[in-house]
Amino acid sequence: MTEQSNPGRVNRELVTAAYPELPGKVAVITGAARGMGASFAAGLARRGVHVVGGDINAEQMADTAREIQAALAAEGVTAPGRVVAAAIDVTDADQHDQLARRALTEFGRLDFWINNAGIFPFALIEDIAPEQISAVLEVNVSGVLYGAQAAARHMAEGGAIVNMSSVSAVRVRKGRGAYCTSKAAVAHLTESLAVELGDKGIRVNALAPGYIDTEMTRWVREDPIALAHALDSVPLHRIGAPEEVFGPLLFLLSDSARYVTGHAIAVDGGSRHV
Ligand SMILES: NC(=O)c1ccc[n+]([C@@H]2O[C@H](COP(=O)([O-])OP(=O)(O)OC[C@H]3O[C@@H](n4cnc5c(N)ncnc54)[C@H](O)[C@@H]3O)[C@@H](O)[C@H]2O)c1
Repeated sequence: MTEQSNPGRVNRELVTAAYPELPGKVAVITGAARGMGASFAAGLARRGVHVVGGDINAEQMADTAREIQAALAAEGVTAPGRVVAAAIDVTDADQHDQLARRALTEFGRLDFWINNAGIFPFALIEDIAPEQISAVLEVNVSGVLYGAQAAARHMAEGGAIVNMSSVSAVRVRKGRGAYCTSKAAVAHLTESLAVELGDKGIRVNALAPGYIDTEMTRWVREDPIALAHALDSVPLHRIGAPEEVFGPLLFLLSDSARYVTGHAIAVDGGSRHV
């Protein structure tokens, strides 16, 4: 069956590319209680990378960490990384510092920082309240900046930061003005961070996903009209899975990308062109 004839299909097959340099390294992931952050935590732990997962929903973060560890043990994965759960509100710079220190205390090193936490509010420009604009800029933009600052202070040379931008950085949608603005800012901030942190041997890149199957976009999948409309703008005619964003993330963290910095990889089925 082709992708076009089965648009509801979500491809959750695991990425099999080998990156032998990754086991034993340590990653911080924000917003790791669910969605892409949880998928990244599970994928990295499967490959022997230790993870400190931080989320504003501390309870769900703890459950997710336990579930990942249990699933890897049940599958008999050899030498998985350990996943540690932490509470963080990414709008608070000090809490990022605490997250970095947690990684160093638990694992003695810090190699990767994934600024993944984000919010996706809907409001038409005429209706959007000042608090909504502040919230989305605080979480999606300041949260990334604070994370990068903490990473830069605590990471050794050779570290890598990955920020979550979006196709929304280049394609606007009604009702998502504040969100799109925030993700464009993340793309730009990624370039600024790359230029400055290159001095410390730290690479900074971004991922720019399109429609990915998570809680954030569940409403699209559940509304056939919205789904059809969304798929109209995806040349590959289906929505993506978190596992399909994980592959490009792995590449960006790996030595294969050691000369790649200040770049955003689109993982959007081509939707940025439509
Ligand atoms: N799902 C998509 O289609 C899509 C597309 C492009 C970009 N993105 C971006 O990817 C990232 C992950 O998205 P997702 O779909 O997995 O979302 P999600 O809503 O499933 O998960 C986001 C996580 O971030 C956490 N979070 C929210 N505010 C926080 C805060 N202040 N401090 C700490 N944690 C906080 C939430 O509790 C949640 O666990 C986001 O930055 C999002 O904007 C998502």
